[in-house]
Amino acid sequence: MRIDIITVMPELLESPLNHSMMKRAQEKGLLEIKLHHLRNFAVNKYGQVDDMQYGGGAGMVIMCEPLSKAIESLKSERTYQEIIYLTPDGKTFNQQTANRLSLHENIMMICGHYKGIDQRIRDLYVTLEISIGDYVLSGGELAAAVLVDSIGRLIPGVLNDETSALTDSHQDGLLAPPVYTRPAEFKGLSVPDILLSGHFAKIEEWRHEQAVKRTQERRPDMSN
Ligand code: ADE
Repeated sequence: MRIDIITVMPELLESPLNHSMMKRAQEKGLLEIKLHHLRNFAVNKYGQVDDMQYGGGAGMVIMCEPLSKAIESLKSERTYQEIIYLTPDGKTFNQQTANRLSLHENIMMICGHYKGIDQRIRDLYVTLEISIGDYVLSGGELAAAVLVDSIGRLIPGVLNDETSALTDSHQDGLLAPPVYTRPAEFKGLSVPDILLSGHFAKIEEWRHEQAVKRTQERRPDMSN
C-alpha cells in the first residue's frame, strides 16, 4: 500500500510514521508513506498557501491553487482509491473504516490547518472526510498519523503474529479482555486461576466472557 500525505507541517508526521510498527512495515516493503510539503506548491515566492476567509472572521484558509496543484501532480502518477481530508466535521473514524481502507492500494490524505481548506477542494477532489473524534486538533497531521498507524498495522504481514490484529479491541465489536504477564502475584493481586490452568478452550471462553462484560460496562453503545 502507498499513502501520500499533503501537509504544511511534515515534521509533525515524521517521527510517528518512522518508528515502531510503521517503520517495520516500510522496511518490509509492505507500506510506502510519502510526505508532500504544500509549500512546494505555494502561490508566490514567500511560500504563501493560505489567505483570509471571504466574509470575514478569524483564521486563515488554505487556498485552492496550491492544494489543487499538489493533488493533480499526485493524481497524474497513480490512481487513488480514496482522497481523504482529515477534519473535525468528517465521519468519525472506527475499526471498520480502518479495515476497509487497509485493502486499498493507494490512498491520499490531506491535512488541514488554521480554519481548514477551501470548500471547493473538498467538492472537487475529496472522496472521504474523516474525523478521529469530537475534539479539535491544531491540524490534520496527528489525525493522519492515527489513520496511517491503524490502517498500516492491518496490512497482512505487518504484525509479527497476524492473529493479534484479530483479537484487538473493536475488531469483533467487543473491547479486548484483560491481559496479564509475570509475576503471578503482584502487590496482593493474583492473575485469575483460569489463565494458569493450561486449559485453552476454557481460557478462550473466559476471555470471551470478560470481553462481553467489559463492553457492556464501558461501552453499552457498542452492544446495539
Ligand atoms: N483536524 C482537526 N481536528 C481534527 C479531528 N478531530 N479529526 C481529524 N482531523 C482534525
